[in-house]
Amino acid sequence: MNTKDRIDNKLLVTGASGHLGRRVVQHLLHTLGIPTRRLIVTTRQPERLANLAALGVEVRAANFDDANTLVKAFQGADRLLLISTDALDVPGRRLMQHHNAIQAAEAAGVHHVAYTSMPLPHGSPLLIAPDHAGTEVALAASALPSWSVLRNHWYFENLFMTLPQVLQSGKWYSAAGEGRVAHIARDDLALAAATALAGSSSDKTTWTLSGSSAYSTAEMSALIAKAVGRPIEVVPMPLEGLVQGMVGAGLPEPLARVFASFDTNTAAGRVADVTGDFMRLTGRQPQAFEAWLEFAVPALKD
Ligand SMILES: NC(=O)c1ccc[n+]([C@@H]2O[C@H](COP(=O)([O-])OP(=O)(O)OC[C@H]3O[C@@H](n4cnc5c(N)ncnc54)[C@H](OP(=O)(O)O)[C@@H]3O)[C@@H](O)[C@H]2O)c1
Repeated sequence: MNTKDRIDNKLLVTGASGHLGRRVVQHLLHTLGIPTRRLIVTTRQPERLANLAALGVEVRAANFDDANTLVKAFQGADRLLLISTDALDVPGRRLMQHHNAIQAAEAAGVHHVAYTSMPLPHGSPLLIAPDHAGTEVALAASALPSWSVLRNHWYFENLFMTLPQVLQSGKWYSAAGEGRVAHIARDDLALAAATALAGSSSDKTTWTLSGSSAYSTAEMSALIAKAVGRPIEVVPMPLEGLVQGMVGAGLPEPLARVFASFDTNTAAGRVADVTGDFMRLTGRQPQAFEAWLEFAVPALKD
């Protein structure tokens, strides 16, 4: 592709009304200076992106459950960011959705697909990992000329789901053992995705995007306790005890097993690797956990 074509080529972001998708679009427009005329965004609910449409971004409807409509939705895009969906209700549904999207991208003549995966998805004990592993396999087997797999580490923001209960009880029930997590800010992952999408890579590349440190539950809880000024006791639990605790608190058992498998995955050391890939891709340092905590503390104290 010559320089002029690259200046004019169209970039498409799926799932653009989600937390990550919205930030990707902001980074494309404001951090990377991509003109609105080069952007296509898709979502199941276009009315939620009226603000982008008003700026001149082309907003299209796309639902990965609806394979027949996707080729039209992706038509004209040169590079496409496929944001993994949150469909965890029916086993296999999410992988089917991603298959639909990859096939549609191929049929629409897209040159490059970037996909938001997870660290070490193959052979993982995490119950949602097969969707990511299967999507990576589908990308590799596709006729797409090039792709980027973005193996996103866990967001700092996931802690907002765990910490209210931890801070209320003063206890952090965990089956993660000494396993560490190399969390990263969701906004940093949005910048990485925007950079991969807007770049000129015509390779098939896998990036593992971690934060700058990896902390065990005990190390994290010590930092959080200091930041909020309240003690936290880490209570080691066997996996089954963790599952039954969540079921007792009202969570359906299949979902409790999915959540508990995050701890198994952590205990196995599968999310502990601090890589330099975020820096290599974006040229920036990821936000440190301590800096994120400073920003998050007021919300955690509420
Ligand atoms: N690394 C991590 O720690 C972590 C944490 C949570 C989630 N994730 C994964 O990363 C993805 C993005 O994270 P997020 O924070 O933005 O989650 P989110 O706010 O829950 O967004 C969910 C995303 O799924 C899309 N989606 C759902 N059903 C779809 C369908 N049928 N067809 C097309 N798109 C569909 C949504 O798009 P529209 O609503 O715009 O249609 C939206 O982009 C999640 O969906 C999940 O796969 C990763």
